[in-house]
Amino acid sequence: MNKGERVITRSPEETESLGERLSATLKEGDRVALIGDLGGGKTRFVRGIARGLGSRGFIKSPSFTIMNIYQGGRLPLYHIDLYRIGGDDEFFFSGLEEFIYGKGVSVIEWAERHPALIRDCMYVITFKYLGENEREIIIEERGVTER
Ligand SMILES: Nc1ncnc2c1ncn2[C@@H]1O[C@H](COP(=O)(O)OP(=O)(O)O)[C@@H](O)[C@H]1O
Ligand SMILES: [Mg+2]
Repeated sequence: MNKGERVITRSPEETESLGERLSATLKEGDRVALIGDLGGGKTRFVRGIARGLGSRGFIKSPSFTIMNIYQGGRLPLYHIDLYRIGGDDEFFFSGLEEFIYGKGVSVIEWAERHPALIRDCMYVITFKYLGENEREIIIEERGVTER
């Protein structure tokens, strides 16, 4: 996957395939921020990542309604959606950081709510709604200094 790749997808399946393609480059501890339009295809993209990792399905986290855990694949996948999480305090006290900075792969929808979190992500993927079936997806790979 190139640094700064821009793709137009023309169906939900194409968006899912793009997620599947990204999954091949993911390694333990990687964090992926998904940002941009509501209805932009973020959740669909995560399904592709899960499929690519070989996950067998997801369970709802017992403690976090905003997190699904995909297991049984090459790496565990934590899919987190911050849409309903409030400010930095609520995020900090949510306990989600344990998963985000853990050993699996974490994929975070609405990461733009927390700029400090985006800075820690190895991939930032921006989704734009262009039309009923058209989405622009920009995949940015970036260097992250481990803390
Ligand atoms: N090219 C496309 N890529 C992704 N989703 C699309 C596309 N065209 C239509 N859709 C539809 O857009 C809707 C929103 O997708 P979703 O992944 O839930 O967005 P988000 O999580 O960004 O809000 C879904 O119903 C999906 O089927
Ligand atoms: Mg979503």
